Amino acid sequence: MRKKIIAGNWKMNCTPAQAEALCRKLLPLCEGAQADVVFCVPSVDIPAVTKVLAGSSIAVGAQNMYFEEKGAFTGEISADMLLELGVKYVIFGHSERREYFGETDEMVNRKVKKALSVGLLPIVCCGETLAQREAGIAVEWIRMQVKLALQGICAQDAEKITIAYEPIWAIGTGKTATAQQAQEICGAIRQVLSEIYDQEAAQTMRIQYGGSVNGKNAAELFAMPDIDGGLVGGASLKEEFAVIAHSE
Ligand code: 13P
Repeated sequence: MRKKIIAGNWKMNCTPAQAEALCRKLLPLCEGAQADVVFCVPSVDIPAVTKVLAGSSIAVGAQNMYFEEKGAFTGEISADMLLELGVKYVIFGHSERREYFGETDEMVNRKVKKALSVGLLPIVCCGETLAQREAGIAVEWIRMQVKLALQGICAQDAEKITIAYEPIWAIGTGKTATAQQAQEICGAIRQVLSEIYDQEAAQTMRIQYGGSVNGKNAAELFAMPDIDGGLVGGASLKEEFAVIAHSE
C-alpha cells in the first residue's frame, strides 16, 4: 500500500517572514494527516520554514537545485546546500521551469541523479499542453518525459522518486483535469514505469496529480487507484491546504 504524498509548491511566493507566518498557521492544521505532507518553499525561505517545522511530521522541500557539486555556477544552489538546511524533497522539471528557465529533459535527469546521490527525494514533474492533448499525443509525450527523466537510474533509486503529473492546461487556470482524465494518465505513467523497471518498482513508486487541486476536488482525485496524492500550487498558500492534506 503506497502512502499518499501531498506537497505544496509555494512557487515564488512569501518572503522569509511571510513564510514563517504561513507555516505557523498551516502546521497545526496539517498535523495528524495520514499522508506525507511537504512544503516546497523558495530556497531563501528554507531556514525560516525548517525552524517552524522542526520536530513536526511535515517535511521541507525545495523547488530546484543544480546538478554540479559546487563551483562557478552563479545563482545556482547545490544538493549539499539543501541537505545541510534539512531539506528532504526537491521538485524537478516543473513546467514553469521548463518554459521560463529552459530546463530540458537532460537537465532534469542530471538533477534527479545528483539529488539521489546525496539522499534527497526527487519529485519529477511531467505534463502535456492543451495542444498536445487535443492532438491525441498526451500519453506518448508523458511516456517520453518519464523515460528521459529516469534514464540511467536503477529501480532501487527510482523507488525514492515521486512522479507528478501536471497537465499544463490545468496549472493555475482553475481547470482541473477530471478524476478520470488524471487517472488515465497516472495509470499510463505506472505502465511506463513497469516497462522501464518491473511491476514491483512501478507499484512502489508514487504518482501525484497537480493542476488546480483544491479542498473540494482533492478527495475524488486522490481516491483514484493510480493517484497517490497531489502537488498543489495556489491552494498551498491558504488554510485550504490543510483540507487537501487530510483528503484521502
Ligand atoms: P495550481 O495548483 O496553482 O494549479 O498549480 C499547480 C502546480 O503547478 C503545482 O506544482
